[in-house]
Amino acid sequence: MPATIIDGKKIAREIEAELIGRISDLSKNGVVPCLAVVIVGDDPASHVYVGAKERACERLGIRSVRVDVASDAEYEEVASTVRGLNEDPGINGVLVQSPLPSGMDEISITDLIDPQKDVDGFHAQNLGRLVQGDVSGLLPCTPAGVMRMLESTNLDIRGKRAIVIGRSRIVGMPQSILLAQRGVDATVTIAHSRTSDMADLCRSADLIVAAVGRPNMITADWIKPGATVIDVGVNRVNDDSEKGYYLSGDVHPDVREVAGAVSPVPGGVGPMTIAMLMSNTVRATEMQQ
Ligand code: GUN
Repeated sequence: MPATIIDGKKIAREIEAELIGRISDLSKNGVVPCLAVVIVGDDPASHVYVGAKERACERLGIRSVRVDVASDAEYEEVASTVRGLNEDPGINGVLVQSPLPSGMDEISITDLIDPQKDVDGFHAQNLGRLVQGDVSGLLPCTPAGVMRMLESTNLDIRGKRAIVIGRSRIVGMPQSILLAQRGVDATVTIAHSRTSDMADLCRSADLIVAAVGRPNMITADWIKPGATVIDVGVNRVNDDSEKGYYLSGDVHPDVREVAGAVSPVPGGVGPMTIAMLMSNTVRATEMQQ
């Protein structure tokens, strides 16, 4: 039987519908949440992502402010942009789109964001809380979105084997912590580019979260029958189409013949990341009142 498709777009719309009520409650007190997005340079994929974030704000009645900084800007220009947004009482959420131009220290820029406005959840204080076992704050959007997708499957992952492929600060690391947290209780393996027995590890896993950035890397022969597979990969593969590329996940389409449930690309984790960003923006606004 082919795998159930975990419809991220549908779950994201449900989350957005719930947020509309909270946004309306804020507006009764004259407050409209406002998200500021800083984009440095002209990375085409980043511009697509930022456009999607702006459209989500528009759908929900969240104000958005976009600050474009030239690709050859100095560190200090980005830093002072962030400081200005921190100090602006009309701004509730601040994010700096990744990647920054090479040579600019992303971690130190992230740590300049006021933790209460850190809607990406990447500030050391917010990530630190997560490591301490406190998941009540602003959580990184993609991993938090994956957790919501897993909740929708009713999969009981307590005591089960999960493998997270990728150890990034944005996805893999926080994802591993969320899966291992008390109450979720998965037994988590973090695999990465130096892992020697990746296929064997995957074959023993009940849950795979793939966040590698390599098209179709996870193939059907790596999958335990009935396993749940979440595909975080968004890879541009060049082709002859008008756009010049198509989007591929990290998970090969044939995996659907073996797995129990699979998230698609597009329409899986992508819309969930944006819904969780909207959720963090509303949460940050509520916490600031
Ligand atoms: N680039 C890719 N994903 C993300 C994200 O979740 N937040 C930011 N700021 N940049 C990204």
